Amino acid sequence: MKPSLWIGTLAAAALGAQATPTASSTPSNPVRSVRNVFTFPNNTFIENIAVRSNSRLLITSMSVPTLFTLNPTLANPTASILHTFPNASGLAGVAEVRPDVFAVVSGIWDLYTTRAQLGSLQVWTIDLTKPTPAVKLIATIANSTIFNGLARHPFNPDLLLAADSELGAVWRVNLKTGAYGIALSSPFLAPAPGNPLGTNMGINGLKVAGAHVFFTNSGQRSFGKIPIDAQGNQAGAVVVLANSTVAGASVVYDDFALTGGDGAWIASHPSQAVRVAPSGGAQFVVDEPSVLFNPTAAALGRGSPAQEKTVYVTNGGRFVFTDTEVGFDLVDNGVAAVLLW
Ligand SMILES: *[C@@H]1O[C@H](CO)[C@@H](O)[C@H](O)[C@H]1NC(C)=O
Ligand SMILES: *[C@@H]1O[C@H](CO)[C@@H](O)[C@H](O)[C@H]1NC(C)=O
Ligand SMILES: *[C@@H]1O[C@H](CO)[C@@H](O)[C@H](O)[C@H]1NC(C)=O
Ligand SMILES: *[C@@H]1O[C@H](CO)[C@@H](O)[C@H](O)[C@H]1NC(C)=O
Repeated sequence: MKPSLWIGTLAAAALGAQATPTASSTPSNPVRSVRNVFTFPNNTFIENIAVRSNSRLLITSMSVPTLFTLNPTLANPTASILHTFPNASGLAGVAEVRPDVFAVVSGIWDLYTTRAQLGSLQVWTIDLTKPTPAVKLIATIANSTIFNGLARHPFNPDLLLAADSELGAVWRVNLKTGAYGIALSSPFLAPAPGNPLGTNMGINGLKVAGAHVFFTNSGQRSFGKIPIDAQGNQAGAVVVLANSTVAGASVVYDDFALTGGDGAWIASHPSQAVRVAPSGGAQFVVDEPSVLFNPTAAALGRGSPAQEKTVYVTNGGRFVFTDTEVGFDLVDNGVAAVLLW
């Protein structure tokens, strides 16, 4: 998720632009090209992404409570509506919890503070194995104001894990019973002291592999991992794997895709996709201000070898200030593709 004040430094942009990477911090460039895939209407802040085994992208927006789907294998894809959730102003995380069954978080969001109204966060599952999506409410969360990154526990199929950017915690939600609570909290997951509203984000992205939770902390500029047990409790020391200030002085990590080992592609503000190497934390920075607009999340394509060499990056969008009462439009909200060799 993208903190609004990190929409800071914005370059004029051409829609649908295709670009070859300009920035390289390691000898071998893993990137063939970067292109726009789809742009949503203005003021549709795009937040998160998951990919189905049939290559379709699932896309959430914090501005509308609608789960969108898009077929990225088409030359000119359009987004269509899969489901619109009740009692919500927008969606946050989306993550696969069983084959073709996805968890989604809805809430009533204040986009300026990037927090949800207390008691409005709801966790749902949407089953796409059926001809018509089957939607189920799992839990209404009484006392969190933000569930950000989302992932199913790596080896306990009953548990969903959710990143709380405010409390610096990982929550567990039992997908069978709806029971929920904080699984672990750590100073490494907390917001950085002194960050103002809109940028007061600790843990942001959350993914799992092996017996670890991987996380980004936007405020602390870190990417790291924490060993966990079957209930999601912390089972060892936090390891910081990379620091976004190394990728660039003003680079801020958002959500990410794991790529094996300790590797990741991290969607980063204001215009970067950052590759962290599987070992050692070396970073390769793709900086494309004409195609990447406050990237909020990343996911690897699925369903064919070409898709598996594609990193889909959601564009939160960029502010264009206007004379209207609202004062600005959020434009260039959408999805871009980073094509790998
Ligand atoms: C939505 O809100 C209405 C009115 O408050 C309530 O009756 C309904 O149960 C809510 N739906 C869900 C899914 O929480
Ligand atoms: C959630 O609410 C319960 C009951 O009021 C309280 O004991 C607990 O500390 C709260 N947890 C958080 C994270 O606010
Ligand atoms: C990242 O680097 C900055 C600047 O060197 C430093 O202040 C910060 O403590 C580092 N954070 C981590 C988590 O290593
Ligand atoms: C989107 O916002 C920009 C900037 O304010 C504006 O120029 C453009 O007309 C808007 N597009 C639509 C379709 O409203």
